[in-house]
Amino acid sequence: MIGRLTTAVEFAGEEASPWGALKLIAGSANPELAARISETIDVPLTDPRLRHFPDGEINVKIEDSMRGHDVFVIQPTSPPVNEHLMELFIILDALRRASAGRVTAVIPYYGYARKERKTQPREPISAKLVANFITLAGADRLLLLDLHAEAIEGFFDVPTDHLSPHRIVADHLRTLNLQRLTVVAPDAGGGRRAEAVANQLQAPIAFGYKRRSGDDEVEVIAVSGDVKDRDCVIVEDIITTGGTISKLAQSLHKQGARRVLVAATHPVLTGDAVQRLKNADIEHVIVTDSIPIAPEKLGPPLTVLSVAPLLAEAIVRVHENRSVSELFR
Ligand code: R5P
Repeated sequence: MIGRLTTAVEFAGEEASPWGALKLIAGSANPELAARISETIDVPLTDPRLRHFPDGEINVKIEDSMRGHDVFVIQPTSPPVNEHLMELFIILDALRRASAGRVTAVIPYYGYARKERKTQPREPISAKLVANFITLAGADRLLLLDLHAEAIEGFFDVPTDHLSPHRIVADHLRTLNLQRLTVVAPDAGGGRRAEAVANQLQAPIAFGYKRRSGDDEVEVIAVSGDVKDRDCVIVEDIITTGGTISKLAQSLHKQGARRVLVAATHPVLTGDAVQRLKNADIEHVIVTDSIPIAPEKLGPPLTVLSVAPLLAEAIVRVHENRSVSELFR
């Protein structure tokens, strides 16, 4: 299910903007989301005419004039991450060379976000490197959604707006007739995210403690908080292999949770992640359309909520030089 698709966003038109005309361009990462944003604000998508040379190199040729315009480039850097990043860099470069007035990179999912610090000697901080490349390529500002770590915002020296889908998620959870609700953070790092949803729903929080023994091997060591006989909603940013969520769901069931649900923003869902979620007896897995989901993975237990109206509203506000933080109130 994609929710809130038809919510139109009030767009006063170019007179309300200190910039040139609002232009939307999308890379190939999530054309459906880009189309929903375009439909919501009634601004057509400019085709960047992305092409691949026979050797795999990417080329772009923007046919329309971008001179002086306020351009928003929609491109989550989801898998294949490197390909989508390179597309983004090349589109940004083309726009800068086309004398665009201002360019905003709209990145609903930020690849490499989980490498935002060194945990061992001689490791990279890839999330910072990616931030450097994005601004070097030509982004004047960023519109981001539920970053794995808030610190990534600080990796940019240009303005960033960091949106949260938690009001959309909380509104949906309210429709599910949950009783004696506990919001569960999978680890301490997810505490603020879980707190945002818990505050909306006036629910207590529990925490999981996990240990990773490999890229797709997770062990949940403990859960602290009130979960017995309660409806537990795990709030997560990313589901990749489904390892974290399925292990945590099993622990919650063992500790007597009445129902287990998941709300996760970015459905990366590699390999047999969906099967793992099914095996873990999770009633609903609520995700967003920040990343496209392969058709064979759609259906229960997944429910997909659209972030297009949220991103559309933020784009219009940035264009009209209006507050974006008001969106959170
Ligand atoms: C990492 O700390 C993230 O917040 C997620 O917990 C992680 O990306 C989930 O990955 P997986 O689904 O592979 O366990």
